[in-house]
Amino acid sequence: MSNPYYQTGERRAGRVQDLFGAIAGRYDLLNDLQSFGLHRWWKRRLIRLARIRPGDEALDVCCGTGDVTLALARRGAKAMGLDFSEPMLAVARRRPVTGGRATFLQGDALKLPFPDGRFAVVTISYGLRNLADMPGGLREMWRVLGPGGRLLILDFGKPTHPLWRRAYFLYLETFVPLLGRFVSGDAVAYGYILESLRHYPAQSGVREMLGELAGARVEEWNLLGGVMSIHRATKPCAATIQHPVAADV
Ligand SMILES: C[S@@+](CC[C@H](N)C(=O)[O-])C[C@H]1O[C@@H](n2cnc3c(N)ncnc32)[C@H](O)[C@@H]1O
Repeated sequence: MSNPYYQTGERRAGRVQDLFGAIAGRYDLLNDLQSFGLHRWWKRRLIRLARIRPGDEALDVCCGTGDVTLALARRGAKAMGLDFSEPMLAVARRRPVTGGRATFLQGDALKLPFPDGRFAVVTISYGLRNLADMPGGLREMWRVLGPGGRLLILDFGKPTHPLWRRAYFLYLETFVPLLGRFVSGDAVAYGYILESLRHYPAQSGVREMLGELAGARVEEWNLLGGVMSIHRATKPCAATIQHPVAADV
């Protein structure tokens, strides 16, 4: 039976909002428990690959409780976290900002309220898989990125080794919902991870979608044998952007 939090079509965004609204208070604790703390290391890797320069404007899309936004700020960026879940943002806003500037804003990843080219860095960590329109979301993130800017995506992956993949899916099917039940009282919410991953195109699909973005130079890193992956798409500098020649009509 499919997970009730996973819906296709028009109900997708509403159900995702319900899900994160329900688990916001326990989200950080469960992240630590289910990944044995490894998500912190993966996020650090994402931040390093963002190559932040002090003063860079950085947008963290689907920021949730703000792990990545706050880490971008610690690196010296003027960081902004955007999410559509007010309960997740409320947790983020209560966290201390150390060593930089971070602001949080409610908004939709599919309609970013920013002008073209505003940011030097855009990140999305564990967010892309949840969007009702993944290519549309990526186009929005690409639009608000300036020349030479970096778009970084961290999310669950699908290992190519069949035994490792089976063991990992079994872990997501059994251990993670059980943990969700004991810690947040909601096994169904944590069963959503596997359901959303089944529908997620993962490494190869993300690579393909990024390849559709004008001029993107795409790189990929697999973590823990492909259990997680990071993609970085770099926008060409203004001088190297090829403008399409208008067709004769
Ligand atoms: C799994 S959490 C990730 C939170 C955080 N980035 C992290 O790595 O821990 C996914 C977040 O995406 C947000 N989200 C999903 N779809 C969204 C959309 N269309 N616009 C804005 N936020 C969205 C959810 O509200 C949730 O906070």
